[in-house]
Amino acid sequence: MRILSGIQPSGKLHIGNYFGMMQPSIHLQEEGDAFYFIANYHSLTSTHDPAVLKENVRNLAIDFLACGLDPEKATFWKQSDVPEVTELAWIFSCVTPMHLLEKCTSYKDKIAQGLPASHGLFAYPVLQAADICLFDSNIVPVGKDQKQHIEVTRDIAIKFNNRYGEDLLVIPEPRIRETTAVVPGLDGRKMSKSYNNTIEIFEETEKKLRKKIMKIETDSTPVEDPKDPENSYIVQLYSLFASEDEVKEMQESYRAGGLGYGHYKQQLFEACRDFFAPFRERREEIIADKNYVDDVLAEGAKKARTKGREVIERVRTAVGM
Ligand code: ADP
Ligand code: TRP
Repeated sequence: MRILSGIQPSGKLHIGNYFGMMQPSIHLQEEGDAFYFIANYHSLTSTHDPAVLKENVRNLAIDFLACGLDPEKATFWKQSDVPEVTELAWIFSCVTPMHLLEKCTSYKDKIAQGLPASHGLFAYPVLQAADICLFDSNIVPVGKDQKQHIEVTRDIAIKFNNRYGEDLLVIPEPRIRETTAVVPGLDGRKMSKSYNNTIEIFEETEKKLRKKIMKIETDSTPVEDPKDPENSYIVQLYSLFASEDEVKEMQESYRAGGLGYGHYKQQLFEACRDFFAPFRERREEIIADKNYVDDVLAEGAKKARTKGREVIERVRTAVGM
């Protein structure tokens, strides 16, 4: 079983990225043949400074490895090291009906956020479909916001198979973990770089992490009054880090009243800090080992390219190249 996922190198990783995409991917590397990559072609839609793009790729690789991606178990590379994916994207473009892309909400959202309306941004899901199909992927672990892109991938692969031959391409399935499908941000909306409401996994200092967590929006219930744990982002975020019993305890304390939100934010801060502490340590080791990241990515590219070439040959033959 091939498990595949990708992530754009578009800035610092936040808790939503970790629980939505990275942690499920890291768990799945135990269950099948895992393929994970850094989507730097995709990032050209939004990052236009070459030095920044390079730096982001490197930092993302370091962070993903620090969080537990094990290169002994998973193949890890950067997208542009397997350029066959762009050839497949073109071939896919020619089986993709316009309406399939026109209905994609992420294009509209990104334009609304001020990204330039380029062809690359519009065709983004076609390249994503190529990423997935080039490696015969069965399962794609992602956060809920990527569900539509995986549906588009399925539609494209089905269309391709209908036109050129059944069973040419594997039809992939999204794997979305319901408990962490949408991690809330500081303001309760989906945590996202574009909403400026993120808590970074590797905030530079503990002080900064604490300051961020103290910014979580709350209602104005007085300290002594009972509070509603059901609609609290603090509780939702705490449950990502704490045991069931610890969450229950916090919920009961909410209902009892007598403590202010600052108290619960402090608890959340401590749980979050402790959860990421071992990753932070591992990150320092990886940074100190000068060649490690480059070696891992080069080795991953070799393996991924072998598989990618096999599939692109199959596709080229099928379409008459
Ligand atoms: P952002 O919204 O910050 O730009 P990306 O779109 O780059 O994040 O997302 C990278 C990965 O992380 C995707 O698989 C996405 O589904 C997941 N992800 C991002 N934000 C969240 C969130 N708040 N909750 C769950 N998963 C998320
Ligand atoms: N679009 C994904 C995101 O923004 C990144 C991505 C690119 C991806 N290609 C992929 C995810 C293939 C899964 C599979 O997060």
